[in-house]
Amino acid sequence: MRKFDTVLVTGGCGFIGTNFIKYIFDKTNYKIINIDALTYAGNIKNLIDIENKDRYFFERVNICDAKKVNSIFEKYKPDCIVHFAAESHVDRSIFGPKNFIDTNIIGTFTLLEAARNLWKDNSDGKLFHHISTDEVYGSLSDTGYFYETTAYDPRSPYSASKASSDHIVKAYYHTYNLPVTISNCSNNYGPYQFPEKLIPLMISNIIEEKDLPVYGDGKNIRDWIFVEDHNNAVFDIIHNGRVGETYNIGGENEITNIDMVNILCEKLAYKMNKDKDYYKKLIKFVKDRAGHDRRYAINCDKIKKELGWQRQYDFNTAIDITIDWYLNNKEWVYDVKSGEYQKWIELNYSSK
Ligand code: NAD
Ligand code: DAU
Repeated sequence: MRKFDTVLVTGGCGFIGTNFIKYIFDKTNYKIINIDALTYAGNIKNLIDIENKDRYFFERVNICDAKKVNSIFEKYKPDCIVHFAAESHVDRSIFGPKNFIDTNIIGTFTLLEAARNLWKDNSDGKLFHHISTDEVYGSLSDTGYFYETTAYDPRSPYSASKASSDHIVKAYYHTYNLPVTISNCSNNYGPYQFPEKLIPLMISNIIEEKDLPVYGDGKNIRDWIFVEDHNNAVFDIIHNGRVGETYNIGGENEITNIDMVNILCEKLAYKMNKDKDYYKKLIKFVKDRAGHDRRYAINCDKIKKELGWQRQYDFNTAIDITIDWYLNNKEWVYDVKSGEYQKWIELNYSSK
């Protein structure tokens, strides 16, 4: 089992990164460095509980900025990098792909170069872990699963940019012996997810009694995993995963979008003392997403067999935790949606 002194996390103010930093900070005594550009999707207030701890450090950095990235690597000398930072929303990638190409491809390349440079004399026990997505494998019809060996077939600018970054990470392993691991995970849900993605968007719209836009016929399928299960898989991989390997992570929990929206309507109706079908009148079928992948389903036997990983949460429990978090954090949702948070960032961080 590998052990580290200093773990550098990119994108630690985003949804999965925030949850990962809380998780690894609790589970270890590692020094944790969080580098994040604080885009619309990053919220530094998520980590307020640990911001003053002496083994947590935050640096506002764009991962495409090679000079700054190199100086931070030199300053902290991380022995493990866990790379979450990305532009992550498929719809945004359809309307404006450039940021996706920059951050997901150039940003990943910049980090790889910085790691190669930092570890050039000795890379023993070091690790660059790249977080990726099941979307690189394309779209499934009614049957079949994505395996680690499935050929890449990305369809959106987002998934194409992630596929590209995966290939570059693998190239650094084969060409330069950079110690890397990669994980490809299915759809996450949980606290701190920006309310543009299906589950938090629907929860916050239900709370505000706004329309619930369901793309196309609503029969597209996603394989939903609770964010903490994703993160404990990443924790297992960085400690015990085989260098050079890819691990699929999935929830084994396929749900159509319309079923998911109906579940959220019913659960919120119960919590708000409304009639079971009260919120369903808000559902509106709207124009489909361009190139909308039909079905994702992950086979995660490899990580189960090799690393003994197992999901800890069942869907019913974890979706309740998620809904309750959004009900108890309406101010967070208001702040990130209204632009109030970005104003605060510009005031407090623009000159730092
Ligand atoms: P997110 O959009 O919530 O957060 C992304 C974070 O990266 C933000 O804090 C943002 O400020 C930061 N960031 C963006 N561009 C940056 C840049 N140029 N430099 C530095 N920081 C930058 O994303 P997420 O949903 O937490 O996803 C995290 C990672 O997990 C991504 O790599 C994504 O592809 C992958 N992933 C996500 C899911 C999912 O369901 N959300 C599933 C599988 C894989
Ligand atoms: O599969 C992993 C991927 O899951 C991650 O790599 C991405 O970062 C993450 O955003 C997510 O991508 P999806 O496109 O699957 O997630 P999203 O929440 O945007 O949409 C889930 C499904 O719901 C998808 O079929 C589109 C549909 N949808 C989404 C929104 C936002 C709607 O029907 N209505 C909506 O308003």
